[in-house]
This record gives sequence, C-alpha cells and structure tokens, in this order.
Amino acid sequence: MIILSIETSCDDTSVAVLRVNGSTPPKFKILSNIISSQVELHAQYGGVFPSLAKREHQKNLPIVCEKAIKEAKNPKIDLIAVTNGPGLELCLWIGVNFAKELAKKIKTPLISVNHIESHILANFISGNKKNLFPAISLIVSGGHTQIILVKDFGQYQILGETRDDAAGECFDKVARILGLGYPGGPIISKLADLKSPRISMPMKMPRPMMSQKNYDFSFSGLKTAVLYDFQKRDQNVAKSPTYIQKMCQEVQQAIIDVLISKTIKAAKDFQAKSLILGGGVTANNELKRQFKVKIKKEGLKINFLVPKSIFCTDNAVMVAVAGYYNFISGKISKKGLEAKANLRIS
Ligand code: KG4
Ligand code: ZN
Repeated sequence: MIILSIETSCDDTSVAVLRVNGSTPPKFKILSNIISSQVELHAQYGGVFPSLAKREHQKNLPIVCEKAIKEAKNPKIDLIAVTNGPGLELCLWIGVNFAKELAKKIKTPLISVNHIESHILANFISGNKKNLFPAISLIVSGGHTQIILVKDFGQYQILGETRDDAAGECFDKVARILGLGYPGGPIISKLADLKSPRISMPMKMPRPMMSQKNYDFSFSGLKTAVLYDFQKRDQNVAKSPTYIQKMCQEVQQAIIDVLISKTIKAAKDFQAKSLILGGGVTANNELKRQFKVKIKKEGLKINFLVPKSIFCTDNAVMVAVAGYYNFISGKISKKGLEAKANLRIS
C-alpha cells in the first residue's frame, strides 16, 4: 500500500510518500519526505503568525506535494492521510481542503489524523515491538504539553496537560526575552549545553506545579519569572553572555525537572510498560539523557521510546504512520472531514 500524507498544522508544510507492507507489525519505507519550514519568516515575530503561516502553506503545499510525488517516482497512491487537528485552524484547513481535492481527483480514500497521535506514532516509523502497552506518552511541542495514557494503538486517555503555555512555547518566549531568536528550544539547548564559565551568578527559577499530585503543567509563570529577573538586573549584566548562558541552563533544567517528574509519576501510577516521547521539545538531548538517568535510578523496567530528532518536530512521515493505523482499524473519513483547532485525542 502507498500512502501520501500531508501536514500543515503549524509552520511546517510537509508531504511524504510511504510504502507499507501489511505484516504485523507493519513495516514502513519512506519514499519521500519533503518539509518546507517557515521558521525564517516567523523569526521576526518570535512565534508563529497564523495568517502568514496560512498564506505560506497555500503557496507551498502544491509545490511540496509535487516534489514528494516526483521523488517517490510517481507511484499509484492508495490512501491519503491528512492532519485535521489540533493546531492552527487557518493552517489545518489548507491541508484538509487540499487533501480532499486530491482524493477526489485521483479517486483515493482519505483519512484524517490527530496531530498528537501522529507525534506518538512517530516512534513506530521503523516498526514496533510486542508488549508495549499500557504506555505513558509525553507529547511536548510549541503548541501542546500532554501526558497521555496509551492503552493500545488508537486507544488514548489524556491524563494531564498544560493549563497555559506549552513547554516549547516557554522555550520560544524565554528566547525572545533574552534576544536569542526563534525557535527558542534549539538555541537555548545549544547555549545551555556549553561548558559553564566559572562565575557565580545565583539564579533559581520556579518549577511550576511540580509538587502537585496531578499530571497538569503550567509554564507561563516560568516565562514571567525570567522576564522579572531579566528586567531587575543591571542591563549590562542581563545582556552578558554569562547571564544568558546561565539563564538558558536554569530554564532548560526547570522545564526538564517538571516534565520528568510528572511523566515518571504517571508511569509508576499506571505501571506503564513503555514511556513514549514525541513533539519538538523531545529533540532536546539533555531531556532525553536525564530521562534515561531517572529511569535507571528509579529501577523502572520500561521501554524508553523517542523518535529520531527529525521526526520529533512536525513532519508528514508520522502522519502517514498514524493514517495507516487508523485505516486498518476502519476509521475512514467521510466527505465531511473538517479541520478542528482543539481536536482531542481519545
Ligand atoms: O512539534 P513541533 O515541531 O511543532 C508543534 O507542533 O508545535 O515543536 C516545535 C517546538 C518549538 O517550540 C521549539 O522551540 C521546540 O519544539 N524545540 C525544542 C528543541 N527543538 C525544537 N525545544 C527544546 N529543545 C530542542 N532541542
Ligand atoms: Zn507538532
């Protein structure tokens, strides 16, 4: 079976073509994966500007799609998969409408994909193992921070989520305060991972909601704490490389502490057999390293799954994988397929 998949939920326009063999577990071969990023365009705003993103998707999607089909050597397409939410509604509609038209034109079934589910299933691009469930999944990106109980493929329950900003959004906003550019996560992690200069500069940022006995998060207070600290310092200090580096380390560690503590708690509470990460923030090397250390320290016998970095951030390959799993469970989309900004995984 050949699947063509489309992703336009945020600021990446992506189309992929995959071949799937129907074995159990299924094996996916990536024939093409084209991503057109809008990062440079949005950098001047320090975040994604939805109407600009929509315009870019509209302009780029036909080109990206043509390129993906050509690179896959024009195969006969059996299924089209498209992200229909959650995400930026204006952007989602571009992908959904394009997918509908293409499905009609080439007389192919169309399947919708939940963006959060696709981030989870990014872990199964190169196959899967037996005995993975129940699993706890942590999905952390620019728009979402959720802890999800995965009972099986296609069976999910949200245990907790952010009450305000997403973790990636916090990285992006802190980078903006510090004048570092966009997207903030990769820049902050690069600076944080540099060897620290031996200058003492006390700096303690909050770990919001870390000691609360739930699986929810809140990151807007952390961003505000950074802003206050930055403003109250002598501006020569606040703009110095030492201050910026120390703040990057502290913010990254604060986010890591909260994410790890809540996720490990969920894994223990639900006796999870696997821990499944996904979303742009899970490309963070220090987060992955500290998760492994914590799992070992706690003596947890658990599969630790995290996608390759290029499949942590938004891409259409994961959409094809999720589309296939939806397809085999009979979830074919009817004509009324709609984009939904707040679509919930269930
Ligand atoms: O999943 P994604 O590509 O798009 C959304 O669905 O939002 O995630 C993008 C987010 C951005 O906020 C970016 O700053 C963050 O992921 N990010 C990182 C890293 N790479 C990307 N955050 C921390 N460390 C990284 N290495
Ligand atoms: Zn995403």
